[in-house]
Amino acid sequence: MGESIIKLVGITKVFPGVVANDNVNLEIREGEIHAIVGENGAGKSTLMKIIYGLYQPTDGQIYIRGRLTNVTNPQVAIKNGIGMVHQHFMLVPSFTAAENLVLGSEPQKNGLFMDFDKAVKITKELSEKYGLYVDPYQKVEDLSVGIQQRIEILKVLYRGADILILDEPTAVLTPQESQELFAIMRRLVEDMGKTIIIITHKLQEVLEVSHRVSVMRRGKLVGTMDTRDATEQILAEMMVGKEVVFEKFHANQNIGEKLLEVRDLVVRDNRGFIAVDGVSFSIAAGEILGVAGVEGNGQTELVEALTGLRKLEEGSIFVKGRDMAKGSPSDFRRMGIAHIPEDRLKTGLAPEASVNENLMMGYQHKKPYEGLGMKLNKKAISQKTAQLIRQFDIRTPSGQTRVKSLSGGNMQKLVVAREFSFDSPILIIAQPTRGLDVGAIEFIHRLIIDMRDAGRAILLVSADLDEIFRLSDRIVTIYEGKLTGEFRTADVTKQEIGLYMTGKNLSTAG
Ligand SMILES: Nc1ncnc2c1ncn2[C@@H]1O[C@H](COP(=O)(O)OP(=O)(O)OP(=O)(O)O)[C@@H](O)[C@H]1O
Ligand SMILES: [Mg+2]
Repeated sequence: MGESIIKLVGITKVFPGVVANDNVNLEIREGEIHAIVGENGAGKSTLMKIIYGLYQPTDGQIYIRGRLTNVTNPQVAIKNGIGMVHQHFMLVPSFTAAENLVLGSEPQKNGLFMDFDKAVKITKELSEKYGLYVDPYQKVEDLSVGIQQRIEILKVLYRGADILILDEPTAVLTPQESQELFAIMRRLVEDMGKTIIIITHKLQEVLEVSHRVSVMRRGKLVGTMDTRDATEQILAEMMVGKEVVFEKFHANQNIGEKLLEVRDLVVRDNRGFIAVDGVSFSIAAGEILGVAGVEGNGQTELVEALTGLRKLEEGSIFVKGRDMAKGSPSDFRRMGIAHIPEDRLKTGLAPEASVNENLMMGYQHKKPYEGLGMKLNKKAISQKTAQLIRQFDIRTPSGQTRVKSLSGGNMQKLVVAREFSFDSPILIIAQPTRGLDVGAIEFIHRLIIDMRDAGRAILLVSADLDEIFRLSDRIVTIYEGKLTGEFRTADVTKQEIGLYMTGKNLSTAG
């Protein structure tokens, strides 16, 4: 491994009410994959944004290839060969892959217009060179997150980066896509001489892909070590500052009446193709039904149908025996369905609004929060929000802070806090712990189990099989919009579920 390519000396970043980075010293070596781990809000993204010139440090110095550099904006970072793929993607959904790739430094035609053919050519060449396949003509909104991420990486490479910062790249990927990404990362480092900094919450991944790892805790860098000297337990303890206990949950014996029933459901996706194809199941009070599947097999559309966000093509949804076929999202909510969406920024939160406003969304018409006219009852609200912030450990300077300035994991905790606070009998939960640190995952899992034991009917959609197995009482597998199997969790193995998830049983079952 080479010499120091980036060196941070005494980096401190103060936001109003928070010290996000506190006297951080960190050295990145040329040609390494350097992992950064730490709890939600520990300051990882902030530190990376400082290297990339998006934030100015309150104090401290940055050396790039030994030279003291004032990274006043991302252009300076890019000129110095630094590129960043953000935690939340920044692509334009209505543009094609090629247009997004060149956005900001477009090839020109007649000095006026973007040369689209050239953009396509560039996309193809880069795809080929780095083994990152994307179709240049497809619109980003029609692409899976895995492919969108490839475009983000290609975009960074197109601008000549040889130091790549990847902020939680695997949070939104399937296990298979993550493996593909790691192969790409290794190739970039070993064959192309790149250097990579990767932030992740999955400690297993740190051990698998990185050469060295640094741990952050509450703004401070608590240590850097060779990955071969690290274990999951060591890293978890460094992150949280104490031992992390992983609890074993027990199946619920107390099953009540059927609260949610779905019959022969058919739903189309955005492009008009059948995404959910004749799905039937039911969930009773006190039960968690896990939906296991590779992402993109209809889970998103299923969840949208179950929350009134997508219309049914055929079939029916009964909530406590009531037919919901023509219900709007607010009808579903009123009938007692709470929803933790997979994409918190698109459908879960209003980023420009405050923490308190986001916590109270959906409460406008509930006593005692409603006031005269449109005004909400201030006192009741501030008590409620303060309690939720405390209970869910949402790390925020105050309830007035805008949601967009929270760390990714804390945004997720906010959505969970709000939805769980509704006391809805039915919970539709998609990817509840995406982007959360180990401690927060443990906390949310405990809450989901408590909700179950309190008699909620829960549908859990997760790309994380460990999560499905840990929480579900029953599991259904979904493949190309169809349910391919249904099991009691105790009677099935991950390997078997894995097979049903890829449609393997269809051929053998005849
Ligand atoms: N633009 C901002 N304005 C105000 N506070 C901010 C801003 N960006 C980050 N913070 C605060 O700085 C702290 C560190 O946030 P950061 O996003 O760096 O955490 P993180 O380690 O990346 O967490 P996560 O794992 O949840 O993504 C948090 O308390 C966050 O609320
Ligand atoms: Mg972050």
